[in-house]
Amino acid sequence: MSTVDPQHLYNKAWLFASQAHVGQKMKGSDLPYSTHVAMVANELIFADRKESVGAFEVALPAALLHDVLEDTNVKQDELAAVFGVQVASTVASLSKNMIAPFSEALYLQGIASHSREAAAVKLCDRITNLQSAPPIWTKAKRASYLVESAQILSALGHVNGYLKERLGVAMIRYQKLYIDALDR
Ligand code: NI
Repeated sequence: MSTVDPQHLYNKAWLFASQAHVGQKMKGSDLPYSTHVAMVANELIFADRKESVGAFEVALPAALLHDVLEDTNVKQDELAAVFGVQVASTVASLSKNMIAPFSEALYLQGIASHSREAAAVKLCDRITNLQSAPPIWTKAKRASYLVESAQILSALGHVNGYLKERLGVAMIRYQKLYIDALDR
């Protein structure tokens, strides 16, 4: 296997994702969707310094590309042609639209049984998403998002102790700042 230059891979995957998501915005924000995927990759890169997220040359592009199969016209074989079958199948495991009828439990089981890379990306995604709450979300919506986060933590936390702890901390912070602080 050839040596992968991670910086080059980052830019290649980020450009691909930015192009695929062009015109889409981050939830509850005016920022482009590419901001979100860069934040997820950032979380993953720092986590990997503390505890391996698995094969970095798979996990890194998967983090940047994690929503292209769910939210854009990009197809799995196209992704495989550019980034390899492992990256493409990792992203597929993270895509909710691949499961019909959808169930959160089935979705999380699929990620857990796919690979530690897939699980690490999902944990990073949720840690990132808990950084703030879309202003339009009601208290009930935020509370249910936290319940879902607890399901992610229990289904996937075992793959990476560092990310497990990060998600736990992010949940406590979210509860305090975005739920408890809300009147209604
Ligand atoms: Ni995401």
